Amino acid sequence: MASLNLSSCLHVFFLLQTLYRVVGSGPIDPTEGFVLQHLNSSNLVIQRPYDVPENQRYSFKNGVHKLWVFKTDKPHTPTSKTNPRTEIRIRGYDYSSGIWQFEAYGYVPHGTSGVCIMQIFGADPPNATTLMLRVYNGTLSYYRAPVILPNIYDKWFKLNVIHDVEKSKIKVYIDGVRRYEGSGRGGAYHYFKCGVYAQNDYSYCMESRWKNIRILKKSG
Ligand SMILES: *[C@@H]1O[C@H](CO)[C@@H](O)[C@H](O)[C@H]1NC(C)=O
Ligand SMILES: *[C@@H]1O[C@H](CO)[C@@H](O)[C@H](O)[C@H]1NC(C)=O
Ligand SMILES: *[C@@H]1O[C@H](CO)[C@@H](O)[C@H](O)[C@H]1NC(C)=O
Repeated sequence: MASLNLSSCLHVFFLLQTLYRVVGSGPIDPTEGFVLQHLNSSNLVIQRPYDVPENQRYSFKNGVHKLWVFKTDKPHTPTSKTNPRTEIRIRGYDYSSGIWQFEAYGYVPHGTSGVCIMQIFGADPPNATTLMLRVYNGTLSYYRAPVILPNIYDKWFKLNVIHDVEKSKIKVYIDGVRRYEGSGRGGAYHYFKCGVYAQNDYSYCMESRWKNIRILKKSG
């Protein structure tokens, strides 16, 4: 052991660090190289069943946005024929080019099912969205499939969604680990949403919570 000096210790350390990066098993910060965009309450538009007051479906306490909706609720406008939703629509950062990122901590309570909790709006018709992250029975998935992560109920997770418009690429990170990568679906313009939007086989009550919502754009 006498020959194990500081220099060889450092060598071993850097070797392990490189190996760790190459294998790619460790969490990363997906926001590296991105520029934070200014965001305040005026950038968060709450969409909710049109016939109930906002505080019956949305609350903001201690930095946590809580959104919920019921199976029997009306759509967000009287003329809409879509399913019930209570969602935060990010306003002011609609985009049609560049590389954009949504970051937030999300939470889905036990029992919420059949619902979209986050979406990238905008796609080539007949599709309306480029990405939907849905929850079915505690499993987070890309639309109905593939599965992104099982067992997401009752715990906070960090979500990073990256949309590269020119390359038509979507990446989804949970807690700094890439869990999904796929193609975009076209579309003239896009924006991010999070909350609850009923899809199919949905539970009576649907709820999701969000905090530290950030919008970023790749520099350059
Ligand atoms: C949000 O930021 C915009 C742009 O800086 C500013 O004009 C607006 O007054 C802010 N609104 C609130 C509610 O803080
Ligand atoms: C979710 O669970 C319910 C009740 O067990 C079941 O009927 C339903 O098929 C499940 N849905 C999915 C998408 O797995
Ligand atoms: C629209 O969505 C369907 C169903 O997910 C998919 O098969 C199809 O490829 C999409 N269209 C485009 C243009 O991406």
